[in-house]
Amino acid sequence: MASGRGPRRIVLVGFMGCGKSTVGAALATRLGWGFRDLDRWIEERHGMTVAEIFRRRGEAFFREEEHRAARAAARLRRCVVAAGGGAFAFEATRETLRAGALTVWLRCPESALWRRVPRDGSRPLAGDRGRMRRLLGEREPSYRLADLAVDSSRAAPDEVARRIVEAAFKRAPRSRRTRKKT
Ligand code: S3P
Repeated sequence: MASGRGPRRIVLVGFMGCGKSTVGAALATRLGWGFRDLDRWIEERHGMTVAEIFRRRGEAFFREEEHRAARAAARLRRCVVAAGGGAFAFEATRETLRAGALTVWLRCPESALWRRVPRDGSRPLAGDRGRMRRLLGEREPSYRLADLAVDSSRAAPDEVARRIVEAAFKRAPRSRRTRKKT
């Protein structure tokens, strides 16, 4: 359904629990595009969950793999990419994710994030609220570097996806200066 000029890839960023995977899947369906979740890609590559990778290989290793996943995703066209909550906080990964893509921060207040993130050990960095609050504070400046910010705390995933499509494919008025002389 996407027509006209628009991005060839949309990358969703934001803290754990902001809805990147659910909104990402809804957005991909809406656009008729592919969907790639970087965490799932890493898990498939290693045959381990993210929690196991953190436990057995450490966070630094996970971040390297996350950068690798971002590089692989940078080759994709007509694809929605859901990045893990920490990806945009690391400059090299962030720059890889931004290249040629529209980046969208799914913004959500801390209280909603805390309600949504399962405390079942699947997110190694989401154990206690104080730590989560601190991490969120540290990361917000990097999320702000995304091209768009869309609130994902109240609307249903499909409605958030609709708003992203509207913003992403809104036709920019053509500038006279860039029009070729005939
Ligand atoms: C992380 C977020 C997780 C996952 C890993 C680290 C983070 O992804 O990449 O547990 O540093 O915030 P989600 O944001 O998809 O939960």
